[in-house]
Amino acid sequence: MENVIDVIDAVPAEPWQIRETAPLGPRAFLHETLFALGNGYIGLRGTHEEGGAAGLEGSYLNGFYENEAIHYPENAYGLARTNEFMLNVPNAKCIALTVEGERFVFDAGKLLAYERSLDFRKGVLERTVEWESPQGHRVRIDSRRLVCFGRKHVAAIEYRVTALNFAGRVEIASRIDSEVTNLQAGDDPRVGSAVTGPALSTLSREADGEGELLLQRTRNSGFLLATGMRHVCATASAGRGAVHAFGASLREGEALTLHKFIAYVSSRDVAEDEVPRLAREEMARAAQDGFAHLVAEQGVYLDRFWREADVQIEGDDALQQGVRFNQYHLLQSVGRDGRTNIAAKGVTGEGYEGHYFWDTEIYVFPFFLFSRPEIARALLQYRYNGLPKARERARQMSHATGALYPWRTIAGEECSAYYPAGTAQYHINADVAYSIRLYLLATGDFDFIAQYGAEIVMETARIWTGIGSYDREGRFCINEVTGPDEYTALVNNNYYTNAMARMHMRFAADMAERLRAERPADFARVAGAIGLEDGEIAAWRSASAAMRLPYDEALGIHEQDDSFLSKKPWDFAGTPKDKYPLLLHYHPLVIYRHQVCKQADVVLALLLLSDEFSLDDKRRDFDFYERVTTHDSSLSSCIFSMVANEVGYADKAYHYFMETARLDLDNTHANTEYGVHTAAMAGTWLGVAYGFAGMRLTGSGLRFAPALPGKWTSYRFQVHVQGALLAVSVDAAGVHYKLADGESLAFTHHGTAVQLTRANPDIRLEAA
Ligand code: BGC
Repeated sequence: MENVIDVIDAVPAEPWQIRETAPLGPRAFLHETLFALGNGYIGLRGTHEEGGAAGLEGSYLNGFYENEAIHYPENAYGLARTNEFMLNVPNAKCIALTVEGERFVFDAGKLLAYERSLDFRKGVLERTVEWESPQGHRVRIDSRRLVCFGRKHVAAIEYRVTALNFAGRVEIASRIDSEVTNLQAGDDPRVGSAVTGPALSTLSREADGEGELLLQRTRNSGFLLATGMRHVCATASAGRGAVHAFGASLREGEALTLHKFIAYVSSRDVAEDEVPRLAREEMARAAQDGFAHLVAEQGVYLDRFWREADVQIEGDDALQQGVRFNQYHLLQSVGRDGRTNIAAKGVTGEGYEGHYFWDTEIYVFPFFLFSRPEIARALLQYRYNGLPKARERARQMSHATGALYPWRTIAGEECSAYYPAGTAQYHINADVAYSIRLYLLATGDFDFIAQYGAEIVMETARIWTGIGSYDREGRFCINEVTGPDEYTALVNNNYYTNAMARMHMRFAADMAERLRAERPADFARVAGAIGLEDGEIAAWRSASAAMRLPYDEALGIHEQDDSFLSKKPWDFAGTPKDKYPLLLHYHPLVIYRHQVCKQADVVLALLLLSDEFSLDDKRRDFDFYERVTTHDSSLSSCIFSMVANEVGYADKAYHYFMETARLDLDNTHANTEYGVHTAAMAGTWLGVAYGFAGMRLTGSGLRFAPALPGKWTSYRFQVHVQGALLAVSVDAAGVHYKLADGESLAFTHHGTAVQLTRANPDIRLEAA
């Protein structure tokens, strides 16, 4: 496997950071993504303050969007009407440096030294440059940038210029670039949006000696956006319009330092009239606290994160780097205010337009649930807040009752213009219900269920009785849907969908009955709010009991849907490597007619609904579907790794895990320049916990079945579960379970019951 950062920049893989030693070159566009900073709200691509982006100058705000009508030259009833897309907002990072009248740019003069690094414990992007101007003036530029984890609206830059071999004039000019536009997608649906031109119109630009506040409005979605900058510098600013310049005559060895505090606030966050005030306040507070204070705060925040979330793998530095890089980017990308979520590409790029998918519930959610449960809860809160829109969508789709979540969205609107691989993925409803069930199993927080969860689960369960029907043999069938595998569309009885719908309806019935018994007032409120009718709970039970789950007796496998096995097998031997991903080279119909999968589908059901299958079933299903899966989706390999572990295919488990763990760092899907792959990043964490450590949390309890991959010396991770914090360490000598926090915890280890308590907080056992 090629290791981009190592090979290209000759930097050995370092377990806690990424580093580059050249600013430009063929990897620059990719590195803009890898070095992106974020705090779950603001996202700044890793472009340079001085500009000259190799690929895309991008600044984003999670959940801040523009919308526009989707035009279908050939229309049909009920198609998604409005696209929401994450906007590229003004670039507030801009800084220009002039040395004795000569402008610093990377491709003029001489670059004497360059290094840039992002340390996952510091959360600060640090860059050192030594440059000699065409006339021979040498400067060192030390810049540091951070997006504050603890201050949603704030980012900051320190920019220090030292005169190395001369005495003379140095000028640092700072501004906000408001003329930004989004990237256009072209033919690749994974790249950007279909929009053209600027989406923000400027209302005002207020500048004073300290900085500037830019107010803009989105043309269609109507949001107000404030972008502000405020400076702290030893010399006063000589403002020229929108540019704030700070100059000094330096002696040799002297430095000029500028601190730039940036704020973004929008009317999606607070009321309109609060927007400018909050932006000013946040900048003033940051400036007063000072840059060093922000750096220290960042360290404290990350310290806590790593103390609980760190996954340690000994024996492979490149892998360790990949695992931490992924965890770090997830933390940078995830919305935590209950009104935002995590986009497929986080806040690092415009791929998939900043949309949220099922990626959240099935991939990202468990990572946060077991590492930072309060963030997981905020993600569920987001779905609760999306219920009104999901109800509207259900009505558009002719469901008289219930709620249907959008396949892809930002603020709750269905944004999927291609319904066969979009709206048809009704499994999104069951995926959300699955995550609520997992939340309950992991936290026991029934208050949340009573207040929010039950309403979501029950409203969304109704869609199954709405679209399903009984066939002549009395089996409950769900027709004309698309499962997770997007290379097979609009089928009857997709196994994954049906099995998840069964879980969903059972869970809805259980929740309803428990609520009625334990909290009758809450039950009455929820039932009243959704207009639950007599007989609905029983209907969920009957439909689950009669659910059609396709199984092929001859092959002894679960069929992906009613038609999958009768399709023509894809000619893998005759498909050259450059024809992958297939979606870029074949019409969808050609793909749909064949036995070929983009990603785990039945195999995902084996993982999520683990207790419903025998080990032999799992092995046969794995063998069959592995042969027909391209893994063209970055969501696939990690699932195959976890199931391979379970069925005893250690080499395959390792291979698929490695495909996932450095997917972005090594750009193996060749599109990381448009943003990181958050689902695969979370799949890496799952690959360790669910995969190598064999963790499952199901209705029958918590279990582990750890194994140590041959190439590793040891690995260690922690999980928050049932009020405890459990540390799991695996090495050649065996497994060490330790209750790091909490009163007690019960689980099984390869089938043997274990009980940890404060009095007996740890135990050593043999690995497999
Ligand atoms: C996958 C989907 C996924 C989406 C966003 C697609 O390529 O097939 O399963 O939700 O990407 O990550």
